Amino acid sequence: MASPTPQLWLLMFAVVGVQLVGGYSFHNCIAEPHSNRKSFSCKCRRDEHVSAIVNDLPRSVVNLTIIFNPLRRIPNNSFVHLPNLQNLRLDQNQLSDFDSLAFRNLHQLKYLNLSFNHFSELRASLFEDLHNLTDLSLANNKLKKFPEGIFFGVHNLNTLLLRNNCLINFSEIVKSVSHLKKLKTLDLCSNNLTSLHHSNVSLPQSLSMLFLCRNNLHTLGCKLSFLKFVNLLDLSNNLRLHTKAFQGVDLSSLRSLRLKSTKVKIAKFLNISNINAGSVDFSGTGLKTPSHIMELCKILKTRLKRIKHVRLHYNGIKNLTNVKLSHCPKITGFLDLSFNGLKSIECLHFLYNQAGITKFIVEHNHLSSLPYCKKQKMFPFKSLDELNYRYNRIQSVGAWAFIQTPNIRILKLNINTIALLHPKAFLGLKQLELLRLDNNLLTDLYQETFKENVNLKILHLRNNRISVIFKGTFCNLKNLNTLDLGGNKITHFQQSGLDGLKSLSKLYLDGNNLKQIDSSFYYAFQDTLTVLDLASNQIRFFKEKSISPFAKLRKLTDLKLNGQRNYGLTVLPHTLFRGLHSLNSLYLTHNNIVHLPPDAFDDLTGLRFLTLDNCCAGVTQLEPGIFKNLRNLTTLILENMGLQNFSKEVFGNLTQLRVLQMNRNVMQSIPVDALESLPKLNYLDLRNIPLSCTCQNKFLQNYTVNSPNVQVVYLYNLICQQDKRLKFHNFDTKVCYIDLGKYMFFSTAAAVFLFTLIPLLYVKLYWKIKYSYYVFRSWFSDHWSRLREKEENCKYDAFISYNFSDEEWVMNELLPNLEGNGSFFKLCLHHRDFELGRNIVDNIVSAVYSSRKTICVLSRNFLRSEWCSLEIQLASYRLFDEHRDVLLLVVLEPISERQLSSYHRMRKVMLKKTYLQWPGSDCSNPLQAQELFWNKLRRAMKAGSKLEREEDDENKDFET
Ligand SMILES: *[C@@H]1O[C@H](CO)[C@@H](O)[C@H](O)[C@H]1NC(C)=O
Ligand SMILES: *[C@@H]1O[C@H](CO)[C@@H](O)[C@H](O)[C@H]1NC(C)=O
Ligand SMILES: *[C@@H]1O[C@H](CO)[C@@H](O)[C@H](O)[C@H]1NC(C)=O
Ligand SMILES: *[C@@H]1O[C@H](CO)[C@@H](O)[C@H](O)[C@H]1NC(C)=O
Repeated sequence: MASPTPQLWLLMFAVVGVQLVGGYSFHNCIAEPHSNRKSFSCKCRRDEHVSAIVNDLPRSVVNLTIIFNPLRRIPNNSFVHLPNLQNLRLDQNQLSDFDSLAFRNLHQLKYLNLSFNHFSELRASLFEDLHNLTDLSLANNKLKKFPEGIFFGVHNLNTLLLRNNCLINFSEIVKSVSHLKKLKTLDLCSNNLTSLHHSNVSLPQSLSMLFLCRNNLHTLGCKLSFLKFVNLLDLSNNLRLHTKAFQGVDLSSLRSLRLKSTKVKIAKFLNISNINAGSVDFSGTGLKTPSHIMELCKILKTRLKRIKHVRLHYNGIKNLTNVKLSHCPKITGFLDLSFNGLKSIECLHFLYNQAGITKFIVEHNHLSSLPYCKKQKMFPFKSLDELNYRYNRIQSVGAWAFIQTPNIRILKLNINTIALLHPKAFLGLKQLELLRLDNNLLTDLYQETFKENVNLKILHLRNNRISVIFKGTFCNLKNLNTLDLGGNKITHFQQSGLDGLKSLSKLYLDGNNLKQIDSSFYYAFQDTLTVLDLASNQIRFFKEKSISPFAKLRKLTDLKLNGQRNYGLTVLPHTLFRGLHSLNSLYLTHNNIVHLPPDAFDDLTGLRFLTLDNCCAGVTQLEPGIFKNLRNLTTLILENMGLQNFSKEVFGNLTQLRVLQMNRNVMQSIPVDALESLPKLNYLDLRNIPLSCTCQNKFLQNYTVNSPNVQVVYLYNLICQQDKRLKFHNFDTKVCYIDLGKYMFFSTAAAVFLFTLIPLLYVKLYWKIKYSYYVFRSWFSDHWSRLREKEENCKYDAFISYNFSDEEWVMNELLPNLEGNGSFFKLCLHHRDFELGRNIVDNIVSAVYSSRKTICVLSRNFLRSEWCSLEIQLASYRLFDEHRDVLLLVVLEPISERQLSSYHRMRKVMLKKTYLQWPGSDCSNPLQAQELFWNKLRRAMKAGSKLEREEDDENKDFET
C-alpha cells in the first residue's frame, strides 16, 4: 500500500486534534461558573464508581466536591489525573473502603473531607502521598482504630477531625499523631475513649486544641506533663470524669478548659490543680444557686485580681437577686450567662462593682422584660460595649431600660417577643451603632424611638408587624447605613416617613405590603442608596408610566423587584429602569409580566447579573435587541420563562456573558448562531428543555459536544424529546448531512461521466480487453504456459497473417520465395497448419506465440477482416507491451492515409515500424525490385526478435 501523502497526514492530525480539544462538558460534574475550570461539584449522581464521576475532569481542578453519591469504594489511582487538587470533599457518600493508593499523586492536596461515610478501618498507606495536607476530616464514620503509621506522610497536618467515631484506644491515637509537628487541632469528641492512658510517646508540642467531649473518660490516666502544651481542652460531657483525675496534671498552659457535665467539683478542682483559674469555663459545673456562685467568686478572688471572661452556661441559674458579683475578681472581658433559666436581669444590679465588663450576654434564657431602670441609684457601666439578650421571651422593654449602659455600641434584642417597646426605651444610647430588633412582634415605631441614636449605622427591624412608617421615625438617624424593614406589613410610608436618612445605602423593604413604588421617598437617597430590595410586595402596574421612580438613584447597584405577591408586576413599564446606569444586579423573577418591552433594559449599561427566572406570564417572546446595551452582563438567567424560540439578534451585544441559564423552557431548538455570538460564554444550562433530536438541531448537537469553551451542564444526560431513551448528545445526524440536491448532482455527474467514458474506452481499449479476455481464459485453461514454452523453441519462423482474398499471392509468391528458392524458413499458414477442431482464437494465439515473427500481408481486404486484426493485435501487443519485435508488415497494395485512419492501431504500428511494399508488376523493372523485396524480407526474418538499438538502426535499410 502506498504511504499516506502529507495532505492525508495533515487531515488525520486535524481529526485527532479536534477530538483532543473536543468539547467541554462533563458527565457527572458541574464546573462552577466563574471558577475558570478550577472548582467542580458532583452532587447527587447515581454512579457508584468514582471513576465515572471524575474521569472526564481536566487537570486544572483545584476544588472538587463529590457529595451525596452512592459511592462505596475508592479504588487505587482514582485521582492521579488531578495532580492540582487542593480541596477534596468526599463527605456524605456511602464509602466504606479505600484502596491503599486511592489518593496517589495528590501532592498539592490541602483539605480532605471524608466525614459522614461508613468506613470502619483505613489502610496504612492511604495518605502516603498527601505531603501538603493540612486539614483532614474523618468525622462521623465508624472507625474503631487505625493502623500505626497511617499519618506518616502527612507531616503538614494542622487539623485532624475524628469526632463521632468508635475509637477506643487513646494510646494508639497518640502514637500515630505524635510526629505531626504542625498539628494544632485534634478533635476526638463523641468516641468511646475511657482514659488518656498512653505509652511513652507524647502529643506534638504544636497541639493547642484538644477536643475530648462526649467520651467515656472517667480518669485521665496520662503522664503529668502530657497536656503541658495544650491551650484549649474540651472534656465536657464525660459523665464519669471526677475531680481526682486532675491530681497533679500540669494544666498550666491552658487558656480554656471545658468541664461541662462531668463529675468535677469546681471548688475542689481549683484547689488541687495548677491551672490558671481564669481559664476554666464554668459552664455546666452545677453553680446553680447564689451561694455556689459567691463561693466560686471567693475562691477566684484568692487567686486572681482580675479575670478576663466568665462563662456560666448551663448552670440552671434562675434568680440573680441575691448574687453579688462584687466579691469576684474584676471581670475585664465578657460575662456570659446564656443557657440558664433567668427570668430577669433586674437592671444589672448584681453587677455592682463590676464596671469593667465589656460584654454581657444572656442568650437562651427566660427573660420576659427589660424594666424601667432610671430610678436605680447605680454607677453606669461605662465600659460595656455590647449587650446581648437574643433568644429570650422578652415582651416589653421599658423606658430608659439601658440607662446604665450608656456607651454600648451593639445591642441585640432579636428573636424575642417584644410587642411593647417604650418610645423612650433607647434614650441615652448615643453610641449605639448596631441595633437588632428583628424577629419580634413590634407594631409601631415612633418619632421618639430612635431619637437619640444618632450614631446608629445598622438597624434590623425584619420580621415584625410594622404596618405604617410614621412621619419622622428615622429623622435623626443621619448616620444610618443599613435599614432592614423586610418581612413586615408596611403598606405605606407617611409623608416624609423616610426623611433624615442622609447616609442610607441599603434599604430592605422586601416582604411587605407596598402596593406601589412611590418615587418621592427614594429621591432622598439619590446620592447614597446602593441596595434597594422591594421583593415580595404587592407592587403592580396597570399601564405604562412616563417617568421612572428610580430615575434619580444614580448609585443604585442592586435592585430586587422579584415575586410581587398575588398578581406580579403584570406590566413592566418600559421606562421603569431609566437612569440606573450603575445597576449591577437586577431581580425580576416570578412576576407574571405580560410583555418584556424591547427597550426596558436600555439604560442598564453597568448590569452584570440579570435574572428573569419565571418572570413572565405564559409564553414569552424575547424581542431582538432587548439586551443590546448590556455589554457588561456576565450572568443571564432565563429559566422557566416559557421561551419557545428566539433569534440571534436577542443576544446581540452580550460580549461579556459567561453564564447563561435557559433551563425549563419550551423551545425545541436553539439557533446556534445566537450562542456563537456570545464570545465569553462558558456555562450553559439547557436542562429540562424539550430539545428535539432532529436535523433541525444537528448544529446545536455539534456545538454542545465540540465547543471547546462552553460547558453544557450535564450535557450527557440531556434526553431527546421524542424518545426519552435517546440522548441528545449522540442522536444520529448522519442522515441530515445527505443533501438531496448534492445527491442528485453527484449521481448525474457520475452518469454523464460514465456515458462519456464508455465509448472512449470501447474505442481505445476494445482490443486490449478482448485480448486480455482471451489471455486470461487460456491462462486459466493452462494453455498459457504451454504457449510460452512453445515460443521458446519456436516451431515456426513466421506466422503468415493474410486475408483469404490475398491467398493467391501468398501461395504463388510468398511461399516459394521463403520456403523454397534457397530459403528454408518454416512458415505457418492457417489453412495448412492450424489444428482442426480447435477454437480459431486459440489457434491464432498459438500460432503467433509459436512463431518467431508474424508477417502481415496488408491489403484493403485484410484491414476489413476481424480475424486478421486480431492477429495484428496480438503481434502489436508483443511489440508494444512485451517489447518483442515480431511483426513484419508487407503492404500488398497502396493504402491511402484515409483508408488507414479508421484502423487506429494498425496506423500506430505502421508509424512505429517501417514496412515492406510489394513492388507488384507495374514498376519499370519489376523482377529486380521483387528480388530486392525478398532479400529484405529474408533479412528481416533472420533478425532477432529482441528490440535493440542496433536493430533499430539496421531497420532503416528497409525504408522504400
Ligand atoms: C476553592 O475553594 C476555596 C474554599 O472553598 C476558595 O476559597 C477558593 O477560592 C476556591 N478556589 C478556586 C480556584 O475556586
Ligand atoms: C506543597 O505545595 C507546594 C505548592 O503549593 C509545592 O511547591 C510543594 O512541592 C508541595 N510539597 C510537597 C511535599 O509536595
Ligand atoms: C464503649 O466501649 C466499651 C468497652 O470499652 C463497650 O462496652 C461499649 O459498648 C462501647 N460503647 C460504644 C457506644 O461503642
Ligand atoms: C428571686 O429571689 C428573690 C428572693 O430570694 C425573690 O424575692 C424573687 O421573687 C425571685 N425572683 C424570681 C424572678 O423568681
